[in-house]
Amino acid sequence: EHGLHSPEFDWPQNGPFETFDHASIRRGYQVYREVCAACHSLDRVAWRTLVGVSHTNSEVKEMAEEFEYDDEPDDNGNPKKRPGKLADYIPGPYPNEQAARAANQGALPPDLSLIVKARHGGSDYIFSLLTGYPEDAPEGVTLPVGANYNPYFPGGSIAMARVLFDDLVEYEDGTPATTSQMAKDVTQFLNWCSEPEHDERKRQGLKAIIILSSLYLLSVWVKKFKWAGIK
Ligand code: HEM
Repeated sequence: EHGLHSPEFDWPQNGPFETFDHASIRRGYQVYREVCAACHSLDRVAWRTLVGVSHTNSEVKEMAEEFEYDDEPDDNGNPKKRPGKLADYIPGPYPNEQAARAANQGALPPDLSLIVKARHGGSDYIFSLLTGYPEDAPEGVTLPVGANYNPYFPGGSIAMARVLFDDLVEYEDGTPATTSQMAKDVTQFLNWCSEPEHDERKRQGLKAIIILSSLYLLSVWVKKFKWAGIK
């Protein structure tokens, strides 16, 4: 069964030449870190990819160092840990799927690296899902134990409860952290995770259009000039 179709929102990157809003990606990372990362992994995103996108090199280094990674065993073969570095991938909350399900009443919080690309509706869907929990399920709808009603989720019954509430995080840039602002920012961040090449692709596309149309106009002029004597 399909979920309720989400409205189309005016995302910063809509339009052929628009890029992501990088201040929003930065705020969105904060929402991911402080809220979503309790349950959702981001397996395909390496720390280094954030550098120059949402954070500086030294900021990302510090963020990575806050996590421990397995290191080569020591000389006696005992396991060793080391702090994270830029080349590492962002670690998830659970060691494996059983642990993830055990912590979520049997449900599996999906990895969010490609979720914007993987779901019909993309960013519009993710935003609608996060902000689309009504106070009560409509009359006549009975939900399984532990399930929550969300009309945007296919089937309407989702294991994830509403997670975003006004002022849940405090943004360093002073942006008011309303539910919809946080949903927008984390969706913009997750869209970047799914399409890290997006901005560069559009920049290259614009360059290609400029170069190819100049060459075309040049060819029109050359043709006129060359054929002038013959016509
Ligand atoms: C599912 C996003 C926080 C637990 C999902 C889905 C998305 C999502 C996009 C997939 C929906 C689908 O399959 O179409 C987020 C975001 C969060 C967040 C952006 C932070 C703002 C959390 C937290 C928990 C959680 C904190 C745990 C307490 C789950 C579970 C599912 C899920 C268990 C699977 C639902 C099901 O299959 O019924 N989430 N989530 N999520 N999330 Fe979250």
